[in-house]
Amino acid sequence: MYQLNYRSISREGLELKDLNDILDEAIAFNASKNISGCLIYHNDNFVQILEGEKKDVLDVYERVKKDKRHHSVTLLWETAVQKRHFAEWNMAYYNPNEKNMKQFVTNFLLLSSLSDRNSGALLSFWASVRKILNDGSKSPETHGVVSTI
Ligand SMILES: Cc1cc2nc3c(=O)[nH]c(=O)nc-3n(C[C@H](O)[C@H](O)[C@H](O)COP(=O)(O)O)c2cc1C
Repeated sequence: MYQLNYRSISREGLELKDLNDILDEAIAFNASKNISGCLIYHNDNFVQILEGEKKDVLDVYERVKKDKRHHSVTLLWETAVQKRHFAEWNMAYYNPNEKNMKQFVTNFLLLSSLSDRNSGALLSFWASVRKILNDGSKSPETHGVVSTI
């Protein structure tokens, strides 16, 4: 089992429709390759962790890097792991609005603090999640999307 995580910045003017398209593509493809993980989008930042067979994870990452809907894709960590950490998450998609954004951030930060962190990739993933969520309220157009894929 292999885990990889990266962060990136969304292209200017990315809309909810683009995010939905990304999620549809990701869910369909990843399911076919038995890849699990989590994708977070907040304040123009993406952070994603992917886990599965090494060649499948690297293959997805190569495709994702070429995607024009984001840029500055930076690999944070890649490592072999004993087991999946996101497989037990049911498919979750949450798109908070302005009213519940604060609660969303609080809940997710709590989740990140409770999460199992026995791999470097997980540690670095949750550290990035906390960083982008703590950076909140910079832009009036705040969207947060969490999806386990
Ligand atoms: C932030 C981000 C995350 C993505 N995550 C995935 C993913 O996990 N799995 C996937 O198949 N595609 C993902 N995509 C979409 C791929 O980049 C790509 O558009 C899609 O796989 C179709 O590739 P193709 O046009 O080469 O067939 C993601 C795109 C972005 C911008």
